[in-house]
Amino acid sequence: MVQNPNLDRIRNATLRERIVTADEAALLIRDGMTVGMSGFTRAGEAKAVPMALAARAKTEPLKITLMTGASLGNDLDKTLTEAHVLARRIPFQSDPALRRAINHGEVMFIDQHLSETVEMLRTRQLPAVDVAVIEAVAITESGGIVPTTSVGNSASFAILAEKVIVEINLNQPAALEGLHDIYIPTYRPNRLPIPVVTPESRVGLPFIPVPPEKIAAIVVTEKLDSSATILEPDHHTRAIARHLGDFLLHEVKMGRLDHSLQPLQAGIGTIANAVLHGFLDTPFHNLKMYSEVLQDSTFDLFDSGKLIFASGSSITLSAGKYQEILPRLAEYKPRLILRPQEISNHPEVVRRLGLICINTALEFDIYGNVNSTHVMGSHMMNGIGGSGDFARNAYLSVFVTKSEAKGGLISSVVPMVSHVDHTEHDVDILVTEVGLADLRGLAPRERAKTIIANCVHPEWRPALQDYFERACARGGHTPHVLEEALSWHARLRETGRMG
Ligand code: COA
Repeated sequence: MVQNPNLDRIRNATLRERIVTADEAALLIRDGMTVGMSGFTRAGEAKAVPMALAARAKTEPLKITLMTGASLGNDLDKTLTEAHVLARRIPFQSDPALRRAINHGEVMFIDQHLSETVEMLRTRQLPAVDVAVIEAVAITESGGIVPTTSVGNSASFAILAEKVIVEINLNQPAALEGLHDIYIPTYRPNRLPIPVVTPESRVGLPFIPVPPEKIAAIVVTEKLDSSATILEPDHHTRAIARHLGDFLLHEVKMGRLDHSLQPLQAGIGTIANAVLHGFLDTPFHNLKMYSEVLQDSTFDLFDSGKLIFASGSSITLSAGKYQEILPRLAEYKPRLILRPQEISNHPEVVRRLGLICINTALEFDIYGNVNSTHVMGSHMMNGIGGSGDFARNAYLSVFVTKSEAKGGLISSVVPMVSHVDHTEHDVDILVTEVGLADLRGLAPRERAKTIIANCVHPEWRPALQDYFERACARGGHTPHVLEEALSWHARLRETGRMG
């Protein structure tokens, strides 16, 4: 048994007897098991047990199905991939080594809407979780697990798993306690409505309720979350933010929105963070977020006084912001909630609150279909994440991207997307640094005209216009020259440039 002086974090005295080393706890996980681990976009992941699993895999056969909230920090997906621990991975990742293994067919990756994983677990449509490994800031007197910087799928993993390992992280601020709102929907078909009616609604418990006897082991850790690499806004992302700001201002002028807009959701990545950052330069105020990942931009908007409340499933910050924000967490706490991802992303709540959802495309086509996941139609980038949960049910579904990628070798607007994540039916607004296309109420031929006129880089516009005109000559509701529809991608493959 491991002794540790900081036991005030484990308030149930009986459970203190279950403190073991990470290696000992990891022995609860055996070859072939399904393991649910905490962790959502590099925040709040279990840190010590996965490392122990990777070390053990060097000396014995050990392959697992790993479910998490979303991507893991501290290079854990990389370490687990390189140790060949991962047989299957669900529902999201963003690690280059794991991405390679997925694209080589070595790891079976189930790329899933983030709100759906635990719903499928609950109804036994996915293999049951044998062991849950959850990072916590504390365990309450009743055995309740208080998560750290993310909730993700942790609550349902812990509730549904046969056994739970808790990693108590002494370096996660104690002030995190009280931030979480753990609400688990009732069983279908007689489910009650989820009672979230504003981003501020608190409808659950501040901890994950599990019977103490299910907590089989506790590991004490100290490793911090790894920081996000957030690039500074550049002139392209600034232009995207400006176009979106101007459009929203127009909506205010038309009386469809007021200056506090509707609650905002912004996706992961550099572009979405930069776009949200752009709200600093707008006249909007009293803004609220009902989002998934709270990034640097959320806290900048708080500090500017423009944002008054943010609900999410994780807090993922750059290194500088971590140092600045974590010690001041108590100050932000009354304006923050972290929820399970099935609630932050729940289609019922997204539709009810009427969110303005801003997500990123890799490419989109002249009719507004969006590809967010597959490079050249085949190679997985990260996964659909929550973008589908939000886009289908949004008040306004916005997709942003730069008009070109890879230094101009690739046009992000193509005749036909090489993979579809969001169909034209789920996309209202498209924005590049060139401009914005408002697709609401437009038929496919009208959509194509506004997309080509407003979003395409001038270098590629004549070729897309030519494609569209020849397609129209053939007729159809959504005209195409089928044998040429993917020729831009084929040319990129053959020559290294789309045209
Ligand atoms: N073809 C090939 N590669 C492309 C491309 C295209 N059409 N468009 C972009 N890329 C590449 C970029 O060159 C960059 O490559 P690099 O990492 O080698 O530099 C990479 O894709 C990321 O693009 P970037 O422009 O830096 O954007 P980003 O960091 O904002 O990420 C997505 C964009 C689409 C990959 C990211 O937002 C994502 O994974 N989205 C799906 C999940 C999601 O939306 N979740 C949010 C719900 S809350």
